[in-house]
Amino acid sequence: MPGDTLKNDLKKVLDEALKSINDIKNISDLEKSRVKFLGKKSLLTSLMKSLSDLSKEDKSKAGKSLNDVKTKINNLLAEKKILLSENSDIHEDDFDLSMPGKASAVGSIHPISKTMDYAIQIFESLKFECVEGPEIEDEFHNFTALNIPESHPARAMHDTFYLANNYLLRTHTSSVQVRAMDEKEPPIRIIAPGKVYRKDSDITHTPMFHQIEGLYIDKDVSFSNLKSIINIFLKSFFEEDNLKIRFRPSYFPFTEPSAEVDIEYIDSKGNKNWLEILGCGMVHPNVLDTANIDSSIYSGYAFGLGVERLAMLKLGITDLRLFYENDLRFLKQFQRI
Ligand code: PHE
Repeated sequence: MPGDTLKNDLKKVLDEALKSINDIKNISDLEKSRVKFLGKKSLLTSLMKSLSDLSKEDKSKAGKSLNDVKTKINNLLAEKKILLSENSDIHEDDFDLSMPGKASAVGSIHPISKTMDYAIQIFESLKFECVEGPEIEDEFHNFTALNIPESHPARAMHDTFYLANNYLLRTHTSSVQVRAMDEKEPPIRIIAPGKVYRKDSDITHTPMFHQIEGLYIDKDVSFSNLKSIINIFLKSFFEEDNLKIRFRPSYFPFTEPSAEVDIEYIDSKGNKNWLEILGCGMVHPNVLDTANIDSSIYSGYAFGLGVERLAMLKLGITDLRLFYENDLRFLKQFQRI
C-alpha cells in the first residue's frame, strides 16, 4: 500500500467523520456513526486488515497513522456523546421505555367545601339568596351594629384576632347580616357562608372555621317560622325525618329571644350525645333600628350554623382538627361524598 494513497484515504475518512459527527442530533445516530467509521465493515477496519501485506517497517508506520485516526474518531464520538447528554433533559441511557407511566393525581373538593355547597343548595331551594361579606371586618359590622357596644362584656365572648386600625378578622358571619340590611330593603332573605376566626384550638375548635349565616326579615316573622326552617333544613341535610333536634335557651346580644340548637348523635362507643350546631334567635329591635329598618313594622330571625360541626356529624368525624391537617389519607376518604 503506497504511503500517499493511505494518507489520502485516512484524510478522507477523518474529514467525512468530522462532518458527519458534527451533524449528529441524537444518541442513535451517534451509534450509527460509530458503526460506519469504526465498525467491522468500515474503511478503517479494512485498511487495518490490509496492513498484513506490508513490510515490517511500512506496517508500523501505517499502523500508527491508522491508530491515530481511529483515536481521533473515538474522541470525537465521545465528545459528541457528552454534548448530546448535556443538552437533553432525558438521558437516553437512563430512559427505560418499559417502565409504567406516572399517573397525575386528580384533586378533589375538600369535605368542608362539599358540606357547605350541599347546605347552600338546600337553603337556595328554600328561597334564601346567597351573599358574601369580607373576612377582614371593622368593629362596627362585627360588634357595634350587632348590639355589642364597645366595652360590652359580650365582646370578650369572642376571642378576636385584632388587626391594625380597628380592623379584625370577623368572629362570625353575623357581620354580613349588617351589610345585607344596609344594602337591601325588606323582605330580606339571605344566607352568608364563609370563614370566621377565633383564638381557639381543641378537638371541637379550630382558629378558622366556617359558618353559614341566615337572615329573614319581613312583616310578621315569628319564632315558629325560625323553628320550622331549622327543622326543615336539618332533616333535609341529614336525610333523616326522625332526627332529634333540641332548642336550648341561650343568649346573643343581637337576638332576643335566643336559642342554641343541638342534634342527638350516637358516638363511637354507642352512647347518645348532643352536639351544638347553631345559634339563632329573633333579630333584636336595636339591630333593626341601627340598620334603619323600622322594628315596629318588621321583625326577623337569624341563625349561624357551624359547618364543621355539620360535617363532623354527617361524616362521623370526632376530631375537627383533622379537616385542616392536609393529610391526603384523611381527605381521600371523602372523594366520593
Ligand atoms: N353569631 C353567632 C355565633 O357565632 C351565631 C348566631 C347567629 C346567633 C345568628 C344568633 C343569630 O356564635
